[in-house]
Amino acid sequence: MDLINKIYQGDCIQVMNDMPEKCIDLIVTDPPYLISYKTNHRKDKSHEFTSEIANDNNPELITNYIKMCHTIMKDNTAMYMFCSADKVDFFKQELEKYFKIKNMIIWVKNNWSAGDLEGAFGRQYEICFLVNKGRKKFNGKRITDVWQFDRVVGNNQVHQNQKPVELIRQCIEKHSQSGDLVFDGFGGSGTTALAALELGRNYLTVEFEEKYCKIIHKRVNSAKPIEKVVFNTNEIENIWEGRIKEIDKPIEPPFSRILLNGVVSSNENKIMSQICQICNSTYEGSYEEHEKRPFHQGYI
Ligand SMILES: C[S@@+](CC[C@H](N)C(=O)[O-])C[C@H]1O[C@@H](n2cnc3c(N)ncnc32)[C@H](O)[C@@H]1O
Repeated sequence: MDLINKIYQGDCIQVMNDMPEKCIDLIVTDPPYLISYKTNHRKDKSHEFTSEIANDNNPELITNYIKMCHTIMKDNTAMYMFCSADKVDFFKQELEKYFKIKNMIIWVKNNWSAGDLEGAFGRQYEICFLVNKGRKKFNGKRITDVWQFDRVVGNNQVHQNQKPVELIRQCIEKHSQSGDLVFDGFGGSGTTALAALELGRNYLTVEFEEKYCKIIHKRVNSAKPIEKVVFNTNEIENIWEGRIKEIDKPIEPPFSRILLNGVVSSNENKIMSQICQICNSTYEGSYEEHEKRPFHQGYI
């Protein structure tokens, strides 16, 4: 069976049964949430996003999937699995049968749910479990378990449950190396595959529905590696007027990385603006605002 950069159309359990054991370096996956989801917000009830997601009422599929994930993962690897807050207890129980839960990451979105408008507050987050088979250390600096990324909207949205590619990139960057094989059994629009390619990893993905497989093909065929300018230590030292504490290897912009490395504090506007000139980007006075700009998105 071909594993490298392949999209399989069909049931993920069947495909996983054909895969060798311990062949996957990282799983980033977003299964049906078991909430029989279909949006009621669209006026046009014939819009494709108003149909229910396949298997969104099939807990047995999730139980089998989690077991199979454990089988195909190499020892000492990680998996990120998204789930809805409504079913978090079910997902947690199933994951704990095979994995060590390391984090319940809160993905904070730029919108919130409707639901009972007078009885319940609008939910503004989704959950993502980070689990380990054995123990997998993360790459780079330690970050928090609250992640903020805008959800995909407008013409960029090609699947009703589409995750932002920047969010998935963060998972992949933190828990894999270049050339690793990243698996997603619930491909949807192929965000995991796309993010993997952009970061120089390989992907293997399965999706039940033909229409989404076509979208995955389109997205991976247009994937471009993310260009990263690498500064060497001397350059950075010059720019930052000797205020660097400790750098033992080249650092890539944007400067959140440098900030995460503890080199400068986030309000050093002068330094930020000098550095931003180098990447042909102008700094607008607020680090937080700057980080949201497209040039920087996805690098954190
Ligand atoms: C939550 S969506 C994934 C969205 C994806 N993360 C994205 O960014 O586009 C789950 C996907 O799993 C697919 N699916 C449902 N049951 C499946 C199965 N047994 N095997 C493979 N895919 C399945 C659905 O068609 C749906 O596209």
